[in-house]
Amino acid sequence: MAYSQIITLSARIAENTAKVNHYLAANNLPQPSFGIDAPLQSLIPPTEPDIAAARQAVIHDCLELRQLMLGPKEHLSSFQHNELVSQHVILRFRLAEAVPIGGETTFKQLGIASGLNEAQLRKFLRYAMAQRIFTEPRPGVVAHTAASRLLVEDQGLYNWLRFSTDDLWHAACRTGDALAQFPGSEEPNETGFALSNETSKDMFHFLSEHPQRAERFAAAMRFFTQRPGLEPVHVVENYAWEAIREGGTIVDVGGSHGIISIELARQFPSLNFVVQDLDEPVVRYAEQQCPSDLSGRVQYMVHDFFEEQPIRGAEVYFLRAVLHNWSAKYAKKILRALVPALKPGSRIILNEPVIPEPSQVPPEMAARLRANDLVMLELQNGGDREMVDWETLFAEAHHGFRFHGGKKPPGSNLWILEAEWAG
Ligand SMILES: C[S@@+](CC[C@H](N)C(=O)[O-])C[C@H]1O[C@@H](n2cnc3c(N)ncnc32)[C@H](O)[C@@H]1O
Repeated sequence: MAYSQIITLSARIAENTAKVNHYLAANNLPQPSFGIDAPLQSLIPPTEPDIAAARQAVIHDCLELRQLMLGPKEHLSSFQHNELVSQHVILRFRLAEAVPIGGETTFKQLGIASGLNEAQLRKFLRYAMAQRIFTEPRPGVVAHTAASRLLVEDQGLYNWLRFSTDDLWHAACRTGDALAQFPGSEEPNETGFALSNETSKDMFHFLSEHPQRAERFAAAMRFFTQRPGLEPVHVVENYAWEAIREGGTIVDVGGSHGIISIELARQFPSLNFVVQDLDEPVVRYAEQQCPSDLSGRVQYMVHDFFEEQPIRGAEVYFLRAVLHNWSAKYAKKILRALVPALKPGSRIILNEPVIPEPSQVPPEMAARLRANDLVMLELQNGGDREMVDWETLFAEAHHGFRFHGGKKPPGSNLWILEAEWAG
């Protein structure tokens, strides 16, 4: 048989699938399935990197094989917005909660429980069933699969999907309109998000006026930041925090609930922390959640990072996943607002994505990175940056910054970048 890419892919899929299967069988682990009691995620632990890589390769190769088999024309028309609309309706009307776990209900009963028209509801659920979300064991009867069950039992996932299929999706739908209406805009209130919410505010100011939406956003972010690659441990273990002088201060700018400060405070008892964020209720809630044994060293403060930094002469100003929310125009303003507070040697430490050059990334990783970049554009006209962009940002913000670059800790999605104030 002549060599071809589709044969190479299918052979590799078979080989790697056999590796995964062998691992599961040898360890008496269940096979992947969507049955109600199926494992909810991959059972391959991080201590088995070869098997985990085989699984990733199968996922990637299946996608490529599918695309090649479809060919360009069918590939282009294979994108399905209906997957999201069906998920959105299920989440919004809390349909998963109305189905007993391990039991059954009917379309009719679901219609009564949710207030939805039965015939319409059936359309959405049958579409979802084709995606393995719910099952219809007998005509008219609805039961859970492992996927629909997750929507009931994993509140964090629910919050994330609700935010994705509501806020993010609506913002994405209006992004083309925003690009047409505000060509090349760097303004955070000239976005798909702003149009979809009919607001003239940037997303964060809009949310601070809508407490329920702000809570949903915060809950979605809590779920997102617990995903592999974003854990605080990467920051805690990959910077020389121990070199900071005893009693030194770290200001966590735009620090939300201060998860990084709390972890650092635990590990480095000689350091003090100030967590700053925009919104009074968010800051006060975070303050209450802070473990009591750390409350003397982790303080919370309402501060708008576009205003002059009030904590002067700190050793470190730390910004995690903050600057990528903003276009260069505003990211520079945030950096400049620090300047009056800086002393020679003060460090600006960022924990942010750095986009590699296109040729350096395998396609499945490129898709994930580029998707995050687009989300920032849709929400705030922000975006992720390549290393050269970070360097330029500091250089253009102020000639007193010295950008030292940084590193990406193994297993982390974010880089630790450092700049120093030379005055
Ligand atoms: C993506 S979150 C990152 C939160 C935190 N650094 C973390 O990694 O968990 C961005 C944060 O910036 C805050 N923020 C947005 N605009 C702000 C402003 N003008 N002043 C202070 N904080 C702001 C938001 O409230 C949010 O907590």
